[in-house]
Amino acid sequence: MHLPSSSTLIFLSTLPLLTAALPASNGIHGRNPAHNGKAIYLITNGVENSVAALPISADGTLGDAKLTPTGGKGGATVNAMGQPAAPDSLVSQSALTIAGKHIFAVNAGSNTISMFAIDSKDPTWLKMVGEPAALPGTFPNTVAASAKNSLVCVGTTGSKAGISCANFDAKHGIGAMDALRPFPLGQSDPPSGPVNTVSHTFFSADQLTLFTTVKGNPMVNNTGFLSAFSVDRGETADCAVTLSTKETRSKPNGTAVLFGSQPIPDTNPPQIFSTDASFGAAILSVSPSSTATTLALGPIADQMATCWVAISPVTKTAYVTDVAINRIVEMSLKDASITGEIDLRMQTKSPGFIDLRAAGGYLYALAPGNATVKAAVSVVDLASKALVQQKELAPFGIAATAMGMAVLM
Ligand SMILES: *[C@@H]1O[C@H](CO)[C@@H](O)[C@H](O)[C@H]1NC(C)=O
Ligand SMILES: *[C@@H]1O[C@H](CO)[C@@H](O)[C@H](O)[C@H]1NC(C)=O
Ligand SMILES: *[C@@H]1O[C@H](CO)[C@@H](O)[C@H](O)[C@H]1NC(C)=O
Repeated sequence: MHLPSSSTLIFLSTLPLLTAALPASNGIHGRNPAHNGKAIYLITNGVENSVAALPISADGTLGDAKLTPTGGKGGATVNAMGQPAAPDSLVSQSALTIAGKHIFAVNAGSNTISMFAIDSKDPTWLKMVGEPAALPGTFPNTVAASAKNSLVCVGTTGSKAGISCANFDAKHGIGAMDALRPFPLGQSDPPSGPVNTVSHTFFSADQLTLFTTVKGNPMVNNTGFLSAFSVDRGETADCAVTLSTKETRSKPNGTAVLFGSQPIPDTNPPQIFSTDASFGAAILSVSPSSTATTLALGPIADQMATCWVAISPVTKTAYVTDVAINRIVEMSLKDASITGEIDLRMQTKSPGFIDLRAAGGYLYALAPGNATVKAAVSVVDLASKALVQQKELAPFGIAATAMGMAVLM
């Protein structure tokens, strides 16, 4: 029997037990895209930084957070008023990331990253592997990891801004970080944001290129860029995989403050869906030499700062968030046009959303709040576009400094 996709979604989301029993097939990465995630993760980014893990139930909703200390300190950029920024303390997407069965998290206040193993039976149970690794840069705010290459790369955006990587293994944790590949930002410690900072570091779909978005500052005609470094496989004496030191920088036409981004699945030549805090979002095309050009610009007329994106393999659209508007905008992967809006302004009190992930039929978006509105994660059903849960984080000691989101599928 053929069902139109929206009916399929409603069917699947109302029959979670049946959904779980469906064979894993026809999805990207060999998984049924309708399968729900197992848990989401974020960092508290407090003075004593912790990873918070929240289990995902069969109906897509979140259970209680379990906190595991990272052994490092959180941090905050300084805003235009000279105050520690919150929400969006780290001005980044991907303050933590998952590769295989491991999680990597940044400690912006201690210039380290921490690695954890995820328990195979209980995804909220995390065990630190090795010691937090010291970085050559300052103020780490974004991290990418490749399971295929056992390589973790960190973006730093303080006085020593740039990219540094290390190999990792399940037994010893993170090896020595390599030398900083610098970005010329002229920043301080802590950095002043949100403009003129590193935004998001992430691997290409084939894990052979590391991309990093860097915000410009339109007020001083500094346009920001997309950085690309290729992965060198087995060129060192011990055949370890490393990141090249040769960089390609692109300033795609029409972009200025590139922020959270995600490779668009199944595109060749590869395409990237990138938010731009100055107007909305763009679709970029990447050439074989890693140069990015603009394919489409998607302005959001009433936006304040569109900075984070998650692509859903179920709806095959992008969802973007704005730190200053309590709403999620859905956009086309073909031309970045607006295809829908999940407006929560009448339903919750949050000032806006930051990092988010799509998993199965649901979207998980972090609303860190501010000094008066408490932190929460909004869970949205992608079939009905309805808010199905507002999971409060304050009972677990999580405040407006919270950053990042990763999901275990
Ligand atoms: C930015 O560039 C535009 C166009 O070249 C120019 O008109 C403007 O004066 C520049 N602004 C600053 C602050 O340099
Ligand atoms: C970028 O825009 C400029 C001015 O509109 C145009 O001259 C140039 O050809 C464009 N470059 C690309 C790569 O599209
Ligand atoms: C927090 O956000 C709410 C909703 O936007 C707003 O009404 C309130 O003034 C904000 N509080 C602070 C301290 O900025």
